[in-house]
Amino acid sequence: MSLRALAVSGSDPGLGLGVVLITTPLPIPDMSDSAAAAVDGAAGATPLGAPPPLTKLELAKSSFCGLDLAPRLDELGRMGWESLDEATLTIHLKWLGIFFRPVSPGRFMVRLRLPNGVISADQLEVLAEVVDRCGEHGSADITTRQNLQLRGLLLEDMAPLMESLERVGLTTRQSGHDNPRNITGNPLAGIDPDEFVDTRPLVGAIQNVLLGPDGPRNLPRKFNVAVGGAPDSFLLHNDLAYLPAVWKGELGFTVMVGGFFSAQRNELAIPLGLWLRPEELPQFTLAVLRHYERRGDRTTRNRSRVMYLIEALGLDAYRAEVVETWGALAAGAGEGVLHDGSHLVSRAPRDVCGVHPQKQPGLCWVGLNVPMGRLDSAALYALVDMARGYGSGELRFSESQNVLIVDVPAQRADALLEEPLLRRFPSDPGPLLAEAVSCTGNHYCGLAQISTKSTALAVLQELEQRLVLPESVRNHWTGCPNACGQPYMGQIGLMGAKARKDGQMVEAVKIFLGGSMADDPQLAVLHEKAVPLSDLPDVLETLLVERFGASRRNASA
Ligand code: HEM
Ligand code: SF4
Repeated sequence: MSLRALAVSGSDPGLGLGVVLITTPLPIPDMSDSAAAAVDGAAGATPLGAPPPLTKLELAKSSFCGLDLAPRLDELGRMGWESLDEATLTIHLKWLGIFFRPVSPGRFMVRLRLPNGVISADQLEVLAEVVDRCGEHGSADITTRQNLQLRGLLLEDMAPLMESLERVGLTTRQSGHDNPRNITGNPLAGIDPDEFVDTRPLVGAIQNVLLGPDGPRNLPRKFNVAVGGAPDSFLLHNDLAYLPAVWKGELGFTVMVGGFFSAQRNELAIPLGLWLRPEELPQFTLAVLRHYERRGDRTTRNRSRVMYLIEALGLDAYRAEVVETWGALAAGAGEGVLHDGSHLVSRAPRDVCGVHPQKQPGLCWVGLNVPMGRLDSAALYALVDMARGYGSGELRFSESQNVLIVDVPAQRADALLEEPLLRRFPSDPGPLLAEAVSCTGNHYCGLAQISTKSTALAVLQELEQRLVLPESVRNHWTGCPNACGQPYMGQIGLMGAKARKDGQMVEAVKIFLGGSMADDPQLAVLHEKAVPLSDLPDVLETLLVERFGASRRNASA
């Protein structure tokens, strides 16, 4: 079925968007190879061996690769978003990191790739200009994948945007939908006195292979990859995580597979039983993804993440098939070393805020708390100036949605702390804001049940007024069961919901407790099913006092 036919038939490829628009058909290249690959799914095969029919979404993916829209962005901009068919608008453009947002039709979100969360002042300046041009619609969010999402862009902005990004070495390619997402690493890589290995070159090399000519174009679902480099590289929520590990006195990585969160099921990654040398990571990652592309389940989207494939095949058979794929990919590819999965990661991620000495004598990094990760153009410009004026011009983003200015001479740190931006983004945030993470919420995401970022900010500020805490408490806010804000990783997790109060349906949250990213990782479990937002400060106050050692400031009053 052609894209146009798909659109004309009025079918909704499972995305639930009410956009129906069919005017100009887009030429569709023959994607028969990918289509064949798409039906060769082990976990999706019928008992009789006949491949099941492709779902409408899989048809749309296999019949056209969104990357082929890149040279046509200028033309699409002139056509206007209203004239695009649904598959182009809501599926294929995501291969270029361009997201139609039903909450703000015509104002697109653009997701970058920032391997290891590293960005230069020159790159950030380009983004500041882009956000600035979007006026009141413009902003940028730091995400939990050490990434940035730009907001408020028009379709006609895309072609010039992609050119400006390319000029400064940035890309948005394959950052959305069924693609390998931004690859994360130690936010302190290369400057960390505690690191075992600098993750930056490894993350960069993996990205180059995955986005290169042999990289996957049509995965069954999204795929998260991460490389750990320090004792606190908690990465078990990724589909594929490399954790530093020693084998016979040599430092390499043990491979962890199958971690993911979803509305239906949450799993931490498990040991694959394989140890690799650092230089093997890029080709091995490609092998894992090529195998997943060929064998993953494409029949049921909520059973498509790689953990389901591992379970369908069995861990040993899965490992054997991946190693075989690896061998077939590259002459001289290794076989890995069978390994018990023990590794050097032993503690929860550090709070990166504050002034900290780097491993380079005389230099320090300064971590600033960006409340809920939201940046406007003024903040972006200020960060550019500070990175240039005090450091080497490099910045980092952390998975806790904060920003670091690196390579600051120790004697300049005090002056940096006096900068006006620090009044908005303090280096010494309160114990709740320091470790707060939030998804987008209903301001931009149509799936959200509540406004996560503004609710979190208001509630946390209120609680910090009321309470003294002995240490920071990691809290994760997410707008709906899709769990983009990783509520299961928080000591406290909050998920948007609805509740009945005084006979009315009101905005509420589910509360999860007990998540830990320390050496014995735990996922948070449901504690309260529906707390109306109006009751939330009081409920959280009680929880923090009873379970986290908080004391009330006004206790003696
Ligand atoms: C079917 C389930 C899911 C849907 C429909 C979904 C949808 C979305 C949407 C629409 C956005 C962008 C919202 C915006 O900023 O405008 C987003 C962002 C994001 N989501 Fe999800 N999501 C799902 C599951 C998850 C899960 C399970 C995770 C991991 C815990 C996750 C992690 C993220 C992250 C990290 C971002 C920020 C972008 C990035 O850095 O890659 N999502 N998601
Ligand atoms: S968790 Fe839900 S509300 Fe938040 S960004 Fe993901 S899909 Fe949107």
